[in-house]
Amino acid sequence: MKILIRQVYRRILITLTSVLFLFPSYSQTFTSDKLSGQQTNCLRSQSINTDLPTGYNILFAGSGECLLCHNSMTDAGGKPIGILNDWRSTMMANSAKDPFWRAKVSHETLVNPAHKEALEDVCIRCHAPLGYFDAHHLGQEYYSIDEMVSDSLALDGISCTTCHQITYETLGSYSGNLLIGISKQIWGPYTEPFAPPMINQTGYTPAYGEHIRNAGLCGSCHTLITNSVDENGEPTGTVFVEQAIYHEWLNSVYPDMGITCQACHVPEIPDTVKISLMPPWLDGRSPFGKHHFAGANVFMQKIFSSNIEELGITAESIHFDSTLSRINSLLTEASIDLALTEMGRTDDTLSFQLSIQNLAGHKLPAGFPSRRVFLELLLKNEENDTIFHSGKLDGNFNLIAEDEDFEPHHEVINSEAQVQIYEMVMGDIEGNVTTVLERAYQHLKDNRIPPEGFAMTHSSYDTAEIAGLALEDPNFNIEGETEGTGSDILFVHAPISDEPGSIEVIVRVFYQTVSPRWLNDMFEYNSDEIDLWEALYNEAEKLPLLLKEETFISLPTETLENTGEPLKIYPNPTLGKIRVDNAGSQMKEIVIYGINGEKIKNIVTDKEHKTIDLTGYKGLYFVKVVFADDRILTKRVIVL
Ligand code: HEC
Ligand code: HEC
Ligand code: HEC
Ligand code: HEC
Ligand code: HEC
Repeated sequence: MKILIRQVYRRILITLTSVLFLFPSYSQTFTSDKLSGQQTNCLRSQSINTDLPTGYNILFAGSGECLLCHNSMTDAGGKPIGILNDWRSTMMANSAKDPFWRAKVSHETLVNPAHKEALEDVCIRCHAPLGYFDAHHLGQEYYSIDEMVSDSLALDGISCTTCHQITYETLGSYSGNLLIGISKQIWGPYTEPFAPPMINQTGYTPAYGEHIRNAGLCGSCHTLITNSVDENGEPTGTVFVEQAIYHEWLNSVYPDMGITCQACHVPEIPDTVKISLMPPWLDGRSPFGKHHFAGANVFMQKIFSSNIEELGITAESIHFDSTLSRINSLLTEASIDLALTEMGRTDDTLSFQLSIQNLAGHKLPAGFPSRRVFLELLLKNEENDTIFHSGKLDGNFNLIAEDEDFEPHHEVINSEAQVQIYEMVMGDIEGNVTTVLERAYQHLKDNRIPPEGFAMTHSSYDTAEIAGLALEDPNFNIEGETEGTGSDILFVHAPISDEPGSIEVIVRVFYQTVSPRWLNDMFEYNSDEIDLWEALYNEAEKLPLLLKEETFISLPTETLENTGEPLKIYPNPTLGKIRVDNAGSQMKEIVIYGINGEKIKNIVTDKEHKTIDLTGYKGLYFVKVVFADDRILTKRVIVL
């Protein structure tokens, strides 16, 4: 009964609005009026907006159908925040045109030709949902790449009518198993939307759906669990977790704080925004979520932006510039904190610790298995000559020190032959490294830095496990007894072979979307898609993106001893108490470290000598003294 009334009501409204608004002539006049008052870059983009696909299939509409009303909004300061212009240059808007994705689909099908239909179908599910779900809704068993490339709606990527038609019932589903509504409802964040113009123009009804702000909406695609096969293409009978951003997020401090995927990737502004160009008297809504979807893929954004025609992209380079700068600021300002502490220096070794704190709502890096974050550790002497260099790239942007199979996680780095790489490494059923997604059977390594609050006892842990040597590292996501720091502490003992002067220590943290090595296996195959991707890859700017850089200067030990200010620590070895005596130099701080760099004591003082009680400790410790004039000196002490 209720439904019937609603339908009748809706029909009346539709008729009413057709008369009231006199589409389309009304809307055209209104659009051009509005445009004349806007900024030029907005005008320019509006003038090519026809590129966005229009038209409908059974379930979906091309994003071009939403353009008329949802692209002209401005924030309180008058800055354009058009939803279409923000979205069109994102990774999700271009997911079906992504040349890396297309090449990878081709690679997978060349490795296992018998699975071609099923593979293409599953890859398209998340990357071109408008094609996949419509075809399946019509009873088609497999939807293919051939069909997709001539289907303008499928090429629209993860577009407006995907997210806004995902049903509440989808929440909790993974691997792109979306339940797309069939009632032509477009769910949004506001209650009681004024529906007639949209119904009239598009046939879709805007409606309030709380779940649009639920992280599970994103989790439905950002969790990918695959069925693995062996080298003969036979099912191994087990599943493999390829991506688990949602479970990583569940296992963090963020759900309890109400910080969802949307909070960081669809940033809300409190401004009151008129969300549709028409009707003219529409009230503003607040808060408004900006469709930024900035992630980490600067690399592919640049490829899109410089190959717009070749890849058939509907966004212009000005749009990519905006998305790129958003990704850049997310990566450089909101992804990590980096801190360095000098632990001590002897004639042959400079020791320091570095701590990387993950600030993202999931692992860092996260998502697709080719992503990695690595560290460059550089020591330079007074002449600016490099005396230690870990994390060096060769001319092809591969890491020189990376082991043949894969580089293990490091707790300590004491040689240039070691490099710290935070990554997930896939292994096949034989235990060999593989980049074939379908063969992925086990995680040989996963030391991607967990988000704050991540715990091995959490119910989502088995979907987002740590793997490899990071499990044995007492400073990986743990400090003392506390699990869930969301950070990794690395100790570096860099050989400095009697370097007499001061040494500059530079630590850089880089993000690499996909290393050349990761693509080796794919480039052994040939197809149009792989060849195109190889050509684009070869000409692309491959320098990894710098997330953070920190430096400090280590002063030589000799400075102190030569100026007659010896640091005395006695008795050494000791049974407990030690006296730190600097014969005339005022101290600022004394820090005692254990052998693994863990901080035992931290004493702030303004004296020239100090007695410290180490009763209860046993073994080798480092006593670091920071002087009032910022010089640092470290000595070893043995507690019996
Ligand atoms: C459950 C949804 C889902 C399915 C199914 C899926 N993907 Fe993806 N894919 C994603 C998401 C989400 C990302 C982005 C993650 C990120 O940026 O780190 C992605 C990213 C990628 C990328 C990286 C693109 C780039 O520009 O860096 C490639 C390559 C890729 N997928 C290949 C495939 C292939 C091949 C298949 C089929 C075997 C497939 N995907 C199936 C969700 C999916
Ligand atoms: C990846 C999923 C996704 C896609 C794609 C998407 N949206 Fe949204 N949209 C959201 C989410 C999430 C919100 C709620 C934002 C909030 O308030 O936190 C939203 C909110 C909105 C709103 C309310 C105003 C606002 O921005 O808060 C409108 C209107 C809207 N979307 C239209 C569109 C149109 C038009 C497109 C196509 C260009 C689109 N959306 C594409 C997820 C999506
Ligand atoms: C003719 C103008 C028009 C077109 C075209 C149009 N809409 Fe709307 N849309 C509106 C109006 C009006 C509202 C309600 C605004 C309000 O009440 O503040 C709305 C509201 C929305 C909302 C918010 C719903 C809520 O309750 O939070 C979403 C999401 C949305 N539209 C998505 C779309 C999508 C996707 C398309 C393209 C398929 C589209 N719209 C096409 C006029 C339009
Ligand atoms: C606290 C803020 C925050 C939350 C919450 C958050 N993210 Fe992120 N996300 C980031 C930051 C910062 C980056 C860039 C650094 C990185 O790659 O991890 C990022 C990167 C990404 C990437 C690219 C990953 C890569 O490394 O290539 C994807 C995809 C993504 N987020 C999706 C999600 C999804 C889905 C959720 C919800 C389940 C989510 N994010 C929750 C902050 C957040
Ligand atoms: C229909 C499946 C689907 C849904 C739903 C979805 N995503 Fe995505 N998302 C993808 C795919 C596929 C990609 C990768 C496209 C590519 O790289 O070619 C992606 C990419 C991204 C990226 C860019 C990652 C990078 O490396 O730059 C971000 C950020 C992101 N999604 C956030 C979200 C958020 C937030 C939501 C929920 C509001 C969401 N996604 C919902 C499938 C989806």
